[in-house]
Amino acid sequence: MTVPDQPEPLIFDLSQPGRGGMALPRVDVPEGGDVEDLLPAAALRQAPPRLPEVSELQVVRHFTRLARRNFAVDTGFYPLGSCTMKYNPKINDELAGLDGFAGLHPYTPDAWAQGALRVLWELEQALCRITGMAACSLQPAAGAHGELAGMLITAAYHRARGDGARRRVAVPASAHGTNPASAAMAGFEVVEVPADARGGTDIEALRALADERLAALMLTNPNTLGLFEENVAALADLVHAAGGLMYYDGANLNAVVGRVRPGDMGFDICHLNLHKTFSTPHGMGGPGAGPVGVRAGLERFLPGPRPVRRDRPGEPGEAFSWEDLGPDSIGRVRALYGNFAVLVRAYAYILTHGGEGLRAVSGHAVLAANYLKMLLADALPPAVDRPCMHEYVADGRALRGAGLRALDLCKALLDHGFHAPTMYFPLIVEEALMIEPTETESRQMLEAFADAVHAIVAEAARGAEASAGVRQGPLETPVGRIDEARAARRPVLRWWPEA
Ligand SMILES: Cc1ncc(COP(=O)(O)O)c(C=O)c1O
Repeated sequence: MTVPDQPEPLIFDLSQPGRGGMALPRVDVPEGGDVEDLLPAAALRQAPPRLPEVSELQVVRHFTRLARRNFAVDTGFYPLGSCTMKYNPKINDELAGLDGFAGLHPYTPDAWAQGALRVLWELEQALCRITGMAACSLQPAAGAHGELAGMLITAAYHRARGDGARRRVAVPASAHGTNPASAAMAGFEVVEVPADARGGTDIEALRALADERLAALMLTNPNTLGLFEENVAALADLVHAAGGLMYYDGANLNAVVGRVRPGDMGFDICHLNLHKTFSTPHGMGGPGAGPVGVRAGLERFLPGPRPVRRDRPGEPGEAFSWEDLGPDSIGRVRALYGNFAVLVRAYAYILTHGGEGLRAVSGHAVLAANYLKMLLADALPPAVDRPCMHEYVADGRALRGAGLRALDLCKALLDHGFHAPTMYFPLIVEEALMIEPTETESRQMLEAFADAVHAIVAEAARGAEASAGVRQGPLETPVGRIDEARAARRPVLRWWPEA
């Protein structure tokens, strides 16, 4: 990795009064008129905004230099378990950038936005076919947002049945932290279900919870140990018999896409993280997309509005428009179309691959994870020794023999040009390292990563003094080892010009 050794100044520090790098297009609406007629005086700015005054070249160099200081999936292997940093094919960006998509104003009348509406409608249909759900809404802006929408649907469903006493949501101990958070935000009480000895959900523990208070079980499958839930059908029967709903956290659909479907496994509601399976940029609770789908009978609770296709009596072809929200819908969870450009990218990915291609994606993802698990069996043995799906969780305690913590290995990997795996998650595994290679990496890359892990462990085994660098790393990145607790507790995120 080339490391720029100079710290990059803030773009505000590059500012020179009067310098600029923009040319606005000619105004294409009548000029003149008093601005006070349009905006109340209190909303008018008294002083110009404090924006940096810089040339185009300065902007380009500044951001290019910053980008080179960062680790990216476009520059190196990024085996971040659970977050799935897989390569985003550039054709998706190209298609999302087409004038008709990128230049479309969100308030364009339906009649002039037929192509965009068709894309959204067709994407909904494709996601329903892929998940086995009857209908879905593309509005949620991230996986966690899809979960919240799903939990609000759960609450609306039970309310509509006059069963408001169901206040409990069961969540396995291995679940992603967003699951209990979403259930709690929707007003539910969260009850943890422990894992069994094989890394699955403990069915006996769930049986004890399956009563008239249970609103839903939130399940991730494969779970966050990278293991397929062996008892998924029995878990669904248990929850349904008790009157609850099965919620599928579809974040890990990339392990099973084209092979099994949440709808066929007995789930009633499911969200997808489009970034993980359909290769869109990861919004991290922000500008991504986490569509939520439901089985037949629950459609009326979905957020909206949603695009609909109608026949045009007496005219060829069909027309697309927005359907008004029904009285049982949980309402809008996002303005306008949702994150339209992300949705276009996901649809481009689905069309590029087709059904067979998507099936191959999950096959390669699972093969890559199992191959890496086998290559690292000595240094990083799996926490649960079963064939894994798209990722595996290693028990990092094996590193202690060489005097290393999981954290040390992760930092040292950066000096070898690799991003670290996810560390210390899931919480039920001590010194956890969660490794997800994704389907896009070559065999050579997986072997190079395994070689780097072995090299770090071998160096550490030479003794604390001889291998001090391994425990102090990273040494070759623009930012070295930081005080992580301070960075998390007291982050400095704002720029104050007077400071
Ligand atoms: C299993 C699981 N559930 C939920 C989420 C939350 O998704 P997001 O980060 O898009 O909010 C993730 C994150 O990737 C995840 O791995």
